[in-house]
Amino acid sequence: MAEVMLDLRHEPKERAYAQLHSYFIGVMTGIDDDIAGMATLSSMLQHAFGFLWTGFYRVVSPSLLRVGPYQGTLGCLEIAFGKGVCGTAAAEQRTLVVPDVDRFPGHIACDARSKSEIVLPVYDRNGQMIAVLDIDSEQRARFDQQDATSLEYILRWFAGHGRG
Ligand code: SME
Repeated sequence: MAEVMLDLRHEPKERAYAQLHSYFIGVMTGIDDDIAGMATLSSMLQHAFGFLWTGFYRVVSPSLLRVGPYQGTLGCLEIAFGKGVCGTAAAEQRTLVVPDVDRFPGHIACDARSKSEIVLPVYDRNGQMIAVLDIDSEQRARFDQQDATSLEYILRWFAGHGRG
């Protein structure tokens, strides 16, 4: 595919996510594969917004996350439920927006440059949590409710929405 990656850094957030969503749905047409979706979405988000780290931790047993497709520097390989931002979001099955990672007790610093973070649960068509999406930024307070809402919407692809 000879397409240039989207650069959405200068767009208002809502429009940026809407564009990214259509791009993602378009690229994934006819592909019904979670790992392909995770890899594609990581790449798109990372390049469109210039984040520090974007990727998925998959639920591999009832209380363990293992790294999945990601973009960025080396991520830790496994995170137990309840540990760090990812493990907490997984244990509580809810989106966590962390404006300052230094103020989150137990934050796992895979890359010392990370200043803020958002983690969202990912569900399959049966409502089972299959992974969490973790995005890290070098900027403090980079993520807010708008990011949470838009990303939650995009992640519905994994529950069967928008599959071609
Ligand atoms: N910061 C995360 C760990 C994963 S990495 O940042 C890639 C956490 O506290 O769960």
